[in-house]
Amino acid sequence: MARTLGILKPDCIRRKLMGTVIKRLEEEGFTIIDVRFTQLSVEKAERFYAIHKERPFFGDLIEFMTSGPVFVMHLEHENAVRHLRDVIGATDPAEADPGTIRGQLAESKQNNLVHASDSDENANIEIHYFFQ
Ligand code: CMP
Repeated sequence: MARTLGILKPDCIRRKLMGTVIKRLEEEGFTIIDVRFTQLSVEKAERFYAIHKERPFFGDLIEFMTSGPVFVMHLEHENAVRHLRDVIGATDPAEADPGTIRGQLAESKQNNLVHASDSDENANIEIHYFFQ
């Protein structure tokens, strides 16, 4: 079994979609290993998204990710990274498959409800960023 990190973003909590998304992840076979309900500081969000530092949307992304609490999930599944990204769908909900979480529910490229690690290497880094 492989592991990955998922984050329900502030829009997911504000729109009261946590239960809907978690139910979908459970239906897709994910096992929840650990969770944290937390408020990201600007410093912690900037370090987490450091790879996007030079992108034009970086400032808005940090403002968004620190605008309310997030729900961080350590998840387990066979091919967990690939499977979670498949279930969530493309970054832009307009391009996401209509059967995916973002395709069904997300509002915009930024307000796209869920973060998912993009590789096994980053999953390992991101899991250790939030969990011991
Ligand atoms: P995520 O996959 O969590 O990682 C980077 C985030 O930056 C992404 O989800 C979006 O929330 C945001 N993002 C990526 N591309 C854009 C964009 N073009 N405009 C605004 N936000 C973006």
